[in-house]
Amino acid sequence: MNALTKWLARAKVNLVLDVVGARADGYHELRSIFQSIELADVLTIEPAAEIIVDCDAPGIPAGPGNLAFRAAAALRTHCGVQQGCRISIEKHIPAGAGLGGGSADAAATLVALNELWQLGLSQAELMLVGATIGSDVPFTLRGGTCLGTGRGEVLTPQPVAGALPLAVVVPPVAVATAGAYKLVDEWADLSHPDPAAALRALADGDVVALAAALGNSFEEPVARAYPAVARALRTIRSVLPAPAGAVLSGSGAAVVVVGASTDALAELRRQLPDCFIWVGRTASAGVSPLVEN
Ligand code: C5P
Repeated sequence: MNALTKWLARAKVNLVLDVVGARADGYHELRSIFQSIELADVLTIEPAAEIIVDCDAPGIPAGPGNLAFRAAAALRTHCGVQQGCRISIEKHIPAGAGLGGGSADAAATLVALNELWQLGLSQAELMLVGATIGSDVPFTLRGGTCLGTGRGEVLTPQPVAGALPLAVVVPPVAVATAGAYKLVDEWADLSHPDPAAALRALADGDVVALAAALGNSFEEPVARAYPAVARALRTIRSVLPAPAGAVLSGSGAAVVVVGASTDALAELRRQLPDCFIWVGRTASAGVSPLVEN
């Protein structure tokens, strides 16, 4: 077995996200379409005496504040093993964006260590360990297109016609997830988008219908609290002629854009020079080995 392996940890977007309501355990009940995208961090996982995390991006914690560190520690406890590992993270997924970057790193760590430490756990068992690290870890591990309920960890895979083009616009601000849920709790007239039409559009590969079916309960409260998000949404919607569509991903700050032409995306880059704009496609997997030629 190769002792040094590279892994792709793919980001997710939420095409529809309904925050159904608060639960007694402090979490919120969700109904959301989770979708993997090609944007990915690259993790190199090697044997080591202890758990060590290093990351090429500033501001990402190296110790237990890092979800990849917590994933390795949780897996070690779950399986009663003593080994350590060095986890080197090449960061491409913006943090605090609602793209599940930290969760994806945790998911890739679980998959990689299952191989490196020869644990033989099933994907379902890795997802259970992942759910103890964060609500988005099970989806970023499984990947593809899923309807997520519960706190986002109860996942039902959905049929899709194939990969779809999309873009992600990230305003220069980080949104803290727990704070965004507080904003939702305080919002009087919360929207509750229904995933049904978007699921049909995904099954049909119908980008126009998908663009019309996007929705997110977080969008209004988060846009009110974060002017940079409101400005990005306003600009995107003024530049993109219908039938393109845009919606906040997760608790933000990223905005998913579906059905935009190359010209419209070039205009967005001109009008939003301080935003990170990624253009790519949906993906059918969450974590996979990176095969280098
Ligand atoms: O599960 P995770 O650690 O990602 O959640 C971070 C915070 O977001 C939680 O502590 C909780 O306040 C909030 N949350 C929630 N309902 C969810 C997921 C997260 O209230 N379904």
